Amino acid sequence: MISKLPDTGTSIFTVMSAMANEYGAINLSQGFPDFPIDPNLENSVLRSLKAGHVQYAPMAGRPDIREQISKLIYDRYKLSVLPDSEITITAGATQAIFTAIAALVNPGDEVIMFDPAYDCYDPSVKVFGGIPIHLKLKHPDYSIDWDEAEQKVNDKTRIIITNNPHNPCGSVWTENDLIRLEKIVSRYKNLYVISDEVYEYIQFKKQHHTVLKNELLRSRSFVVFSFGKTLHVTGWKLGYCIAPEALTTEFRKVHQFNVFCVNNTIQAGVADYLSRYADTKSIADFYQKKRDLFLQAISKSKFKPLTCDGTYFCLLDFTSISNEPDVEFAKQLIKEIGVASIPVSVFYKDQTDNHVLRFCFAKKDETIIKATEKLCSLKNCPDSNQSILGKQRSQL
Ligand SMILES: Cc1ncc(COP(=O)(O)O)c(C=O)c1O
Repeated sequence: MISKLPDTGTSIFTVMSAMANEYGAINLSQGFPDFPIDPNLENSVLRSLKAGHVQYAPMAGRPDIREQISKLIYDRYKLSVLPDSEITITAGATQAIFTAIAALVNPGDEVIMFDPAYDCYDPSVKVFGGIPIHLKLKHPDYSIDWDEAEQKVNDKTRIIITNNPHNPCGSVWTENDLIRLEKIVSRYKNLYVISDEVYEYIQFKKQHHTVLKNELLRSRSFVVFSFGKTLHVTGWKLGYCIAPEALTTEFRKVHQFNVFCVNNTIQAGVADYLSRYADTKSIADFYQKKRDLFLQAISKSKFKPLTCDGTYFCLLDFTSISNEPDVEFAKQLIKEIGVASIPVSVFYKDQTDNHVLRFCFAKKDETIIKATEKLCSLKNCPDSNQSILGKQRSQL
C-alpha cells in the first residue's frame, strides 16, 4: 500500500511514556493530570449513565451541553454564540481540528502552522493533499513573527492554524496578535483560521485573547476547545468547535461521517455538571499554584525555565547541564534520573534543537516535588563531559 503519511512513525509521546513505564520514571511527558476529578463531576456522569443516556446522541451534540457552552462563552467573554447553529460537540479537540481541515482543504492548498506545533496539524493537512507550511515561532519567547507570516500567505493559503495558549511553549497572545492576524485574513476572501484554544482557561495573564472577540476573525474561524483540559478528563475526549453558521454547516457535513456523534453518557453528565457546579474561574489559579510550585522547586537546579504564561507545560533549557541533542538528553533523564519529559525538537518539522525539554505540571503536588527533587540532583554537573548525562555515556 502506498502510505499517505510515509514519514509518520510512533509518536514521541508513546515512546517517552513507554520508557517512563519501563524505567519506573515519574511521567511529566504526556499532558494529562494524575489527580482525581471533582466528585461532583463523577456523580453527574454516574447519574447520566443511570438515567439511560446510552444511545446515539444528536449528530451536532446534545442540546443541553451546547446550551451550557453558550452560557460559558457568554459568562467569560460576553459574546453570544448560538447553540443550534454555531456549536458542534466533537470527540476531543483533535477530531474538531481534523474535521475542520477535512472541510476546508483541497489538494494543493497551503496551510500555515507555527513550529513548534502540536503534532496533529501537519499529518491531518497531508491526508487531504494539503501542503503544510511550517513557520517558526521566535525563540525564546515563542511569539509569532507576523511579518514573516504576512509574506508567506498567498492565494493558495487556505488556513492559518494558531494555538493560544501554546503547547508546548506556554506562550499566550496579546491584543496585537489578534490585530495582526485580522490584517492578514482581511486580505484574502478564501482564507480561514483554525484557532486551537484548548487551554483557554489555563491562562496566567488572566485575559484570554480568543479570536471570537474579533468580528472579522470570528466570521472566518473554527475555534476548538477541549473539556479534557478544562475538567481534567483527557480520556473522555470531549471537545467542541465554534464557528459561524455557514462554516458550521460545512463542518457538520464531514463530522456526520467521520464520527456522526459523540459519547452520549459523557455529554449528558458534563452538561449536568456545568449547569450545577461550573466554576471555570478557579482553573487558572489552580494551575498557577502548580506552575509556581514547579518553578520555585526548579529554581534550585541548573535548568533554566522559559516564560510560562499559560497551559500546564513549562519549558526548561538545559544548556548549562549538557550539550546533548534534546532527544538523547530526555531519554537519559528517564533512565538515569527517573523523570520523563518531551524534547521540544520533535514539535519542529526540521527538528530545531534549542536544548529545551517540556515538562507537564498537571500533577499532584507530591509528584511535582518528587520530580523536581530528582531534576535538582543534576545541579552539580555543569560540564557535560563529567555529567552522568554526558556525551560519553550517550555513546555507550
Ligand atoms: C494544543 C493542543 N491541541 C489539541 C489537543 C487535543 O485535545 P483533545 O485531547 O481534546 O483531543 C491537545 C492535547 O494535548 C493540545 O495540547
